[in-house]
Amino acid sequence: MAVLCFGSLNIDDTYTVPHFVAAGETLASTALERFAGGKGLNQSVALARAGAEVYHAGAIGPEGGFLLETLRASGVDVRYVETLPQVRTGHAIIQKEAGGDNCILLYGGANRCISPEWMETVLSHFGHGDVLLLQNEINDLARLMKLAHSRGMRIALNPSPMETSVLSLPLELVDLFFLNEVEARQIANAPQGIGGEQLLQNLAENFPGAAVVLTLGGAGALYRDAGGTWFQPACPVEVVDTTAAGDTFSGYFLGSRLRGDSVKEAMALASRAAAMACTRHGAAPSIPHLAEVQG
Ligand code: RIB
Repeated sequence: MAVLCFGSLNIDDTYTVPHFVAAGETLASTALERFAGGKGLNQSVALARAGAEVYHAGAIGPEGGFLLETLRASGVDVRYVETLPQVRTGHAIIQKEAGGDNCILLYGGANRCISPEWMETVLSHFGHGDVLLLQNEINDLARLMKLAHSRGMRIALNPSPMETSVLSLPLELVDLFFLNEVEARQIANAPQGIGGEQLLQNLAENFPGAAVVLTLGGAGALYRDAGGTWFQPACPVEVVDTTAAGDTFSGYFLGSRLRGDSVKEAMALASRAAAMACTRHGAAPSIPHLAEVQG
């Protein structure tokens, strides 16, 4: 039982700033660091560090080699990452404030140039029992979802970064959603004031067959499936950088479930891993190893 994470690979240039730059303002940053990132890559790394068998699929440009090295070093199989000679690797410009909050500007590059033929070739190697994990940083998610469904794969979707185009995807094919409250409200078409368990209820009415992980930031996380609801409190930590914390949660939760852990165990492990990621700088390098999370 393998996970195919078909997703983005980004070069993250992270600027430490006194505050997020405003319209019309020129602002000096105090540090610049480069990290391996991309929601797809981060989730593959988290899955592998949680002990899952992971294949990453996607595309980079010629300068993206270190992203493959990062995946390989974490135990991710990268045979399905194409290098496109004429296209730039996806990248992210990240502003990071003193409290650890960030804002992110994305350039899709190679992440948005994945051909239908490559999607079909990659998916032809996977089938019943395998899981397709997607985020919203590559092109043509609908094609991938339909292909995976036709091959009997289960589908996990984290629709970040959220856009209205997500609402046109065949969301009825999703087996497991990873959502924050903003995403959940949009997908459930719920009003602004609705949150937490009420939001899970709305999602269950819209997608009765799907399980949902709803992350609530510092307030913890909720899980719901046909068997019931589980609340996981957050682990309090000294936050230095929240980049990839959500990716760490998703990868660890899925990896833990695939290893046979209960929902309760998977939620606790994912919560600890995500909290640890917040205490470290950068995207992929901030994702802890299983022994650290269990220690
Ligand atoms: O979730 C964090 C990630 O979002 C960063 O690594 C950045 O590349 C963007 O994709």
